[in-house]
Amino acid sequence: MPFACVAALGLAALAGTVAIATMGVPNVRSVLPAATEPTKPVVKDTAGGPGSLLAKQAIVGMTTIVGQHIAWNDWKPWSVAMAPFWADDFTYDFNYVGPWNFGPTRGLRAWYEGEHLHINAAFPDTQWQEFLCATTNTTATLACYGLVQWTGEFAGVPPPKSHPKVMIRDLDFYVLEGKRIKINWCLIDVVDLFEQVGYQVVPKGPLKSEGYRAPNAMDGLPAPSSSMFTKEDAARSEQVWQAALHDDYDLGTGEGKWWAENLNWYGPGGVGTAHSREDYVKHWLKPLRAAFSNLERSTDLVVCEGPYCGAHFYMWGTHTGEWMGEKPTGKRVPIRCGAHARIVDGKIVEGWLIADIPRAFHAMGVDFFGRAREMAVAQAAAEESHSQPSDK
Ligand SMILES: *[C@@H]1O[C@H](CO)[C@@H](O)[C@H](O)[C@H]1NC(C)=O
Repeated sequence: MPFACVAALGLAALAGTVAIATMGVPNVRSVLPAATEPTKPVVKDTAGGPGSLLAKQAIVGMTTIVGQHIAWNDWKPWSVAMAPFWADDFTYDFNYVGPWNFGPTRGLRAWYEGEHLHINAAFPDTQWQEFLCATTNTTATLACYGLVQWTGEFAGVPPPKSHPKVMIRDLDFYVLEGKRIKINWCLIDVVDLFEQVGYQVVPKGPLKSEGYRAPNAMDGLPAPSSSMFTKEDAARSEQVWQAALHDDYDLGTGEGKWWAENLNWYGPGGVGTAHSREDYVKHWLKPLRAAFSNLERSTDLVVCEGPYCGAHFYMWGTHTGEWMGEKPTGKRVPIRCGAHARIVDGKIVEGWLIADIPRAFHAMGVDFFGRAREMAVAQAAAEESHSQPSDK
């Protein structure tokens, strides 16, 4: 994961002695049985909590190091701490980041010098709030948001002078080889990030954005808590999720029939948050169909645990209609997506989606980051001219 969500998991405090005697209740000791020997923990939970499958155990170990920023800019100790979690030649595949020039990197050193150091310099000490972590033994996905002050350039785009606080939407997908991560796909919502500081690179979304929120359910945090669900639960969820992906993206009937009527869908920057199937269809599925012809889905990974599923996929389409404010270019365009769902009684009741809009724009021949940079410069100049009269 980029800088990765810290798992707040697995660190269950070993209960010490409860200090009953200090609570001001007289003679409590006299009614309790005499202590014989210190209480021993009966079970030792796996990383990620009881019942966590192998990939969750691996991911939690790794995200703890990244999330706590342990030796983040010191290659030697950082690589020693990280090495056990990564296959030697693993692929790390982040967003399209324009002038930062990251394609997928191979191996730990390339990731460290690529996305890792750059992101941490732009957003130092980000506090990752992981709300979804679904895994099998060999695959995993995470969704989280990071809370941080934006202080350094991101892909050539400077933050406003005030270094505002931002909330970064982030997701990851993983394929493991044994206990080690072989592929890590990672996306952040750059449109949403820029919008938060007033860089409106694409037209404002039709739906009000309510963020990238934790599931509205008591399934544990991050959800799901593995011990609460069986592999049959995962299989049932996956059936619905696969059917929904097929219906929404392959068939293009555009009715969202696997979604609950009063869903919550945390859509990407440029679209917003939907609270009904109707809005999800009207503002996400239909515009996609209308703007791109010959849509084809290419799916890297689908993973489900309990009621939670995720998918990392590309929608390839010919850009024949306007999308996100861009007039048709006739180009073949990839729309890279990371999507998550919570499925209850055969319907998706909650959904989350991040799309790599800068990459889609790049294929259209539009310099997304260049446009953002111009907005940043214009905003800084406007602030400068506003502040001058009152300063003097
Ligand atoms: C995961 O791996 C463990 C240990 O090898 C095995 O006992 C378990 O059945 C596997 N679970 C699933 C869902 O594949």
